[in-house]
Amino acid sequence: MIDRRRMSLSVLLITVLSGWFDVGGRIMAEPPSGNAAKASFSSDEALYHEIYRPQFHFTARENWHNDPNGLVWYKGEYHLFFQHNPRGIQWGNMTWGHAVSTDLVHWKQLDHAIYPDEHGTIFSGSAVVDHHNTAGFRTGDEAPIVAVFTYAGRFAKPPKPFTQGIAYSNDRGRTWHKYEGNPVVDNLAPNNRDPKVFWHEPSKRWIMVLYLGQRGKFTILHSNNLKQWKRVSDVEFPNGHECPELFELPVDGNPNDTRWVFWQGDGRHLIGRFDGTRFTPESEVLRGEWGKNCYAGQTWNDVPDGRRIFIAWMAGGRYPGMRFNQQMTFPRRFTLRTTDDGLRLFAYPVREIEGLYRRKHKWSDQPLSPGEDPLEGLQGNLWDIDFVVEPRDARTVDLDIRGNRLRYDVQQQTLSGFGKTAPVAATGGKIHLRVLVDRTSIEVFANEGRIVMSFCYVPDLTNRPLKLSVTGGAAQIEKLEIRALRSIWSE
Ligand code: FRU
Repeated sequence: MIDRRRMSLSVLLITVLSGWFDVGGRIMAEPPSGNAAKASFSSDEALYHEIYRPQFHFTARENWHNDPNGLVWYKGEYHLFFQHNPRGIQWGNMTWGHAVSTDLVHWKQLDHAIYPDEHGTIFSGSAVVDHHNTAGFRTGDEAPIVAVFTYAGRFAKPPKPFTQGIAYSNDRGRTWHKYEGNPVVDNLAPNNRDPKVFWHEPSKRWIMVLYLGQRGKFTILHSNNLKQWKRVSDVEFPNGHECPELFELPVDGNPNDTRWVFWQGDGRHLIGRFDGTRFTPESEVLRGEWGKNCYAGQTWNDVPDGRRIFIAWMAGGRYPGMRFNQQMTFPRRFTLRTTDDGLRLFAYPVREIEGLYRRKHKWSDQPLSPGEDPLEGLQGNLWDIDFVVEPRDARTVDLDIRGNRLRYDVQQQTLSGFGKTAPVAATGGKIHLRVLVDRTSIEVFANEGRIVMSFCYVPDLTNRPLKLSVTGGAAQIEKLEIRALRSIWSE
């Protein structure tokens, strides 16, 4: 993780000497916790309106969260569990928080789902719907939802190795029971963690991908019942770290021609084949994120229309004075497309965002000369911006958001912002940018989502909301559509 690189040698030394260690850039300095007391959360509705509270990105009602966990759809609800500290604004006491949504946009936070116990605190993992009752947990009319998570044994009393456990719910995720036979996967390697489980229909088995706790090392396991697991193959991923994902996608929408994507924490991924046992990469390592704040993402199991939808932790954002800490990306749909460079993964905001559209401002086929700004006078702070521009004589095309600049460099064919730069090639002399602006985050999808940049920021509220300008010479705006968005908390 980003912060990890910044950790000085002395901090590392202290960390090691005092028996602490670092996962995902946080220093895990929490005392062993055993059974945490159930924590309740505040019911103060006003808190969703604080000045830096994202208005269409998921945040925990209060306190710290990091990775999305247990993403699964069941009977009309998208479940979003998350790494949560129910008792503090910083990382610690890892518990699975829980929220549901019927549209991937409006979220309702429910009671926390899975608490630490004698095996450890509850680190990241996934969830499945056990339609065939393979684990035998079913008691009533609902199919059980089974969560598969990591026991961070390091934080148990007395400390234990990291293992994997399961818990189930027979009431659509409202109440949870841990399996009495936990853990279901014994320690395979120090700090092994982050099981992603899914049903593999051709082999009629559950598959788990697991991080082995050491950079570059992942493994794949099989199970018939979610309780007994067998390690069947390993995956080497250069410098890969935490939160593996493995999913299938049609190539250019063709269901008869599919590939598998092996994804890990920072968004770098491999495209290849998976035969139910072994993943065989066919690509080099590809980048899935070019910005600063996107980590530990996961995709939903069982989305009814077959879309592969992803959400990630916008790791590292800062929100001074707020009772919440951290936010998620807006959910994105993944597709695999043939490009001149070979197959590439594209990510684009899910269409459900349209439910938030308010006013639309539209410009088309008009030149933009230096000194002009078509966005002058625009009010607001939540936006979905979609534009196609032909740079022509311009040297740069600049979009300023509350004083933060995204700059397209025409000659370099790069897009830069917040100290990060990504290659954005013009096609037919044009570039296409889609930009989502929330109060404290900006997500850029360039060239239909081939390049993604995710940023958190603290807005300068005295600054202009949006400004679009060029330097050097005139550009031609082919299309510029700006939609003001409704807050998900406004109803
Ligand atoms: C990734 C991660 C995971 C771990 C969890 C702990 O951000 O470090 O590897 O399970 O966060 O909160």
